[in-house]
Amino acid sequence: MRVAMIGTGYVGLVSGACFADFGHVVTCIDKDAGKIARLEQGEIPIFEPGLDDLVARNVREGRLKFATESAQAVREADAVFIAVGTPSRRGDGHADLSYVYAAAEEIAAQIDGFTVIITKSTVPVGTGDEIEAILERVRPGGNWAVVSNPEFLREGAAINDFKRPDRVVVGTEDERAQAVMRELYRPLYLNETPILFTSRRTSELTKYAANAFLAMKITFINEVADLAEAMGADVQQIARGIGLDGRIGAKFLHAGPGYGGSCFPKDTLALVRTAAMAGSPVRLIETTVQVNDARKKAMAGKIIKAMGGSVAGRRIGVLGLTFKPNTDDMRDAPSLDIVPALQAAGAVVQAYDPEGYEARQLLRDVDFKPGPYEAAEDADALVIITEWDQFRALDLDRVKLLMRAPLVVDLRNIYRPDEMRARGFDYRSIGRP
Ligand SMILES: NC(=O)c1ccc[n+]([C@@H]2O[C@H](COP(=O)([O-])OP(=O)(O)OC[C@H]3O[C@@H](n4cnc5c(N)ncnc54)[C@H](O)[C@@H]3O)[C@@H](O)[C@H]2O)c1
Repeated sequence: MRVAMIGTGYVGLVSGACFADFGHVVTCIDKDAGKIARLEQGEIPIFEPGLDDLVARNVREGRLKFATESAQAVREADAVFIAVGTPSRRGDGHADLSYVYAAAEEIAAQIDGFTVIITKSTVPVGTGDEIEAILERVRPGGNWAVVSNPEFLREGAAINDFKRPDRVVVGTEDERAQAVMRELYRPLYLNETPILFTSRRTSELTKYAANAFLAMKITFINEVADLAEAMGADVQQIARGIGLDGRIGAKFLHAGPGYGGSCFPKDTLALVRTAAMAGSPVRLIETTVQVNDARKKAMAGKIIKAMGGSVAGRRIGVLGLTFKPNTDDMRDAPSLDIVPALQAAGAVVQAYDPEGYEARQLLRDVDFKPGPYEAAEDADALVIITEWDQFRALDLDRVKLLMRAPLVVDLRNIYRPDEMRARGFDYRSIGRP
């Protein structure tokens, strides 16, 4: 099949490369000419494990190419995916659909022959109807179908998630479009991946329900962590104790500084807005949003308290700035709340992140270091904000020697309290005695 992917960001590039690897002929399109120029030179604009090899192989074998203009690829395509951003709209938190609608206008003007237009972007219920209205206006009586096919991949494990998903959700009742979607996902069909055909609205809402549930699960364990801390219990053992229950499941039960990233914050907020507008509020998710926002803001206070109540003039080493490991994505990362709050309280911050280069634009007056040991040097405290694997096996004796005071505040619980204390650290973590 011939595929056009409009938007070549985290989702568009991974999905496009994976569809090419399934054997389809894919053009990934982006308005950002710099991004496309880099891709054409064989450079990958984002950090995602395995993506460089996957892209290079499919380009070499002639199944994947890049363009800034969509006209030709869309004209030739059997399937056109919309994978542009849907950030929070300033002011009200609703999903900003301007990029999606602009893409739909562009596609409408160019399609030729029966074409399936598929939203991979996360879009509120009813967006497919709006896209249909745009197509109808620009190309009355055209030969097309609009499908919702939300993406569930996680950054950092995106290729595996795309190629071996727990399920694929396809929202369309159009039989011709269903046949195209079956063909696109044929390798998964053969693997017996569950492919759920639903109505378009059901599919759109399924994506928000999934993200809202996961955000709520994280927020739940974070609150249990605070309670455990107050009561002298251990949240990690509690998470294991409940997670082994098949009805609950062990994933997304790691207590931490609050969820961030490119999806949960904006999608929970958008769901709250959609639900309020529909007159059917989702109060659990409203509370999740509030609790998580407050938590991210409270983390600096936790660090300041661990440092005796004042950080004025003190040097804090920070390990990890991205919202999670194995990505360079800084969107809504907890570090963006924590670091400025520490600086506002008078701390001098030095930091290291293996891939979070964008932090240099987003954080001011931070001394960016080339490695974890440099970030620990002369520090009065070392704070672990993101659990990159390389921070799990640090030479702790070296760290202790480098630091001015051996205080470690571990917001990801990657070390064991007893071991850290045995090594002479003043060690604080989340929800553990
Ligand atoms: N990042 C994730 O982990 C993830 C996971 C699942 C779903 N999603 C959803 O997928 C969508 C895309 O997310 P992302 O993280 O890939 O965003 P992104 O910001 O990384 O990429 C979006 C890209 O679209 C381009 N673009 C915008 N308008 C365009 C147009 N008219 N024509 C061509 N290109 C255009 C932008 O230049 C940008 O490169 C969002 O709705 C998001 O919620 C993201």
